[in-house]
Amino acid sequence: MKTRTKMMGVIFAAAAFVFSAAASAKDLRLGLIVPGTHAWSVAATAMGNDLRERSDGKYSITIFPAGQLGSEARMLQQLQTGALDMAFMTTAEITNRIPDFGVLYAPYLVHNVKQAGTLLNGPTAQGLLDKLPAEAGVVGLGYGTAGMRLMLNAYPTNSIAAINGRKMRITPFAPVKDFYQLLGAASTPMPLPDVYDALANGQVDGVDADLELVWKLRLYERGSVLVQSNHMMFPVVGLVSGRLWAQLSPEDRAMLGELTKKHLNNLFGQYTAIEAEMLENVQKAGVKVVPAGPEFFGDKLQQWETLWLKKAPVLADLRREAESIR
Ligand code: BEZ
Repeated sequence: MKTRTKMMGVIFAAAAFVFSAAASAKDLRLGLIVPGTHAWSVAATAMGNDLRERSDGKYSITIFPAGQLGSEARMLQQLQTGALDMAFMTTAEITNRIPDFGVLYAPYLVHNVKQAGTLLNGPTAQGLLDKLPAEAGVVGLGYGTAGMRLMLNAYPTNSIAAINGRKMRITPFAPVKDFYQLLGAASTPMPLPDVYDALANGQVDGVDADLELVWKLRLYERGSVLVQSNHMMFPVVGLVSGRLWAQLSPEDRAMLGELTKKHLNNLFGQYTAIEAEMLENVQKAGVKVVPAGPEFFGDKLQQWETLWLKKAPVLADLRREAESIR
């Protein structure tokens, strides 16, 4: 009888432990604008697995890719109210709130994704993250990247003159809008999910994108010229809702910060291979590749620099740092 009572006690204690662990377990909702097959979504999933393991099941992550929760602007609002816990978001959307982030899009700041990794982990870019809590109500835990920017056009593009007067799809934010306006194009702001149809129905003549998007969104079906300019880097930032952050213990903050940074930083290494694979794919699909360097853009690059040095003087620091890492 005594043994039976003891056994029941053990069972109740175990059940209570499981119940309280389940009650305190938290599933974090993480939003992304990119499709589920995109490298950012893959990184978010890997981070969730790592987090569940490291926290012994206290935290898990459910990802909402492909803009299921709305545009990045909407996701940022949800982070601010606490309706969303985390996002892997372009720094483009952040630039709409905090213009200093626009300096990350200075043309030819870096030449490749590896240099992007060094620069984004340097003091100027890291310093920008410090602005996020006060100016956007979110906490920035680290950067990753997408592929270098280029153009996929539905018209012959052998020189910069060919872009003049063309409707070019851009991500909706000022640095890239300025860039294409300086080239004489009609900048047409448009979020990712709308791009394929816009190119198909002639709403735009070309797209500012990267190799992964050209392949995974099948843009190569609607544009036959790839201007391989690699003219800008395109960072992603890992964000946590300021409201959630305030509730976390110092240990949990450190764990979430470390894992977010680790998985986003892994992208810097991965994109060299992703870009090579996607280039081969689009070439096999019959796309004509036009290599283009800074000389392709003539004096437009200096014009962009002059404009943005006025809008965000921190550009001078970032440019100096970039030159020291090449
Ligand atoms: C874009 O707007 O071009 C974009 C958005 C998210 C990831 C990569 C690119």
